[in-house]
Amino acid sequence: MASLKYNTSTTPKPFLILTPLKESHVQTAVVCSRKHGIQIKVRSGGHDFEGLSYISDVPFIIVDLFNLKKIDVDVNNKVAWVQSGATTGEIYYKIAKKSKTLGFPAAICTTVGVGGHFSGGGYGFMLRKYGTAADNVIDARIVDSHGTILNRKSMGKGLFWAIRGGGGGSFGIVISWKIKLVPVPPVVTVFSVSKTLAEGATSLVHKWQQVAHKLPHELFIMLGLGIVDATPKGEKTIIATFDSMYLGDAKKLQTIMQERFPELGLEIYWTEEQVGISKKYLNQIRRMYEFMTPYVSKSPREAYANYRDLDLGQTSKNGTASYAQAKVWGSKYFKGNFDKLVYVKSKVDPDNFFRNEQSIPSIPIFREY
Ligand code: FDA
Repeated sequence: MASLKYNTSTTPKPFLILTPLKESHVQTAVVCSRKHGIQIKVRSGGHDFEGLSYISDVPFIIVDLFNLKKIDVDVNNKVAWVQSGATTGEIYYKIAKKSKTLGFPAAICTTVGVGGHFSGGGYGFMLRKYGTAADNVIDARIVDSHGTILNRKSMGKGLFWAIRGGGGGSFGIVISWKIKLVPVPPVVTVFSVSKTLAEGATSLVHKWQQVAHKLPHELFIMLGLGIVDATPKGEKTIIATFDSMYLGDAKKLQTIMQERFPELGLEIYWTEEQVGISKKYLNQIRRMYEFMTPYVSKSPREAYANYRDLDLGQTSKNGTASYAQAKVWGSKYFKGNFDKLVYVKSKVDPDNFFRNEQSIPSIPIFREY
């Protein structure tokens, strides 16, 4: 990602953009740039607010690490090695694929690059519980200004400290990071509530300032302020958005919010109690269905194939259906064309290879026509 404000014809361009495939390419880039006196800009996710990873007023090259994005998750030891070109979202995804009860506290935005993000700290929804991404880095591999690769031990305490919050681009090129995974419950709850000035944003922001930092550490509520249209004529107003993640289920979150921040008026979504409500809505839909029945097509009752409805019937588990079974839904979708579809299907796919829960059946007798 690059900021659009730098997408101009006068923005300085690099001599070349190097996209290393392995560590030694990064080392070579450092050695050669040093030899030729050309500045290196290092880019991981390109999210630098000032474009520092891809712009310079002096002759420069870009070392873009987007190919170095390997993520090795070791669930048993609750650690992972991640390369700098990965995004935070890719880390979350890889961890979640292996474990529902481990996570990593980093950016809210999932396109942020690991290289710059970890170098500068890195906060996210689990900040209050587990600190920043940098707090959870336990080793790293960095190419120093001589092109040497160092790890935690060989780089020494000072450098290891500096690369975890000291800002990217000052100390070397960090190739990969060893991170400590943190325990998370299998279910977390998120919410986003927005209020304009007319809806009481001012007093909510005031209250948020008083309570947000005193809430249980499992609960993080972030405040964002913006400007939106207040009237169709384009008059503006301020909008306050409270984005949150709670390391726990909706029921517990509701209790906390009712006790500590009831003014936000948070209404929890699909909780167990609401299963009752969902039944109520289903019944409403059924009643409407019955009400409308006299007014729609009959014999057969018609349906649109792209508005698939398995309530009309389906094949058995192995994907087969007799002609009579399939005609129940097939005639609704295709009326008189159903037989023709069965004929075509039976000819082109006699083994019924392509099948789904409402596919056209392949019927031997149709092949003879
Ligand atoms: P980029 O590649 O631009 O690098 C940023 C800086 O680090 C540059 O100076 C670069 O040279 C240097 N660098 C990059 N890779 C390096 C490496 N491997 N070794 C050494 N130096 C390296 N922050 C946050 O804490 N929480 C959040 O939720 C968000 N959300 C967010 C959303 C959006 C849309 C943006 C634009 C930014 C954020 N940020 C953020 C800020 C973000 O953490 C910050 O911009 C990071 O530096 C971005 O890292 P990238 O690797 O993407 O940037």
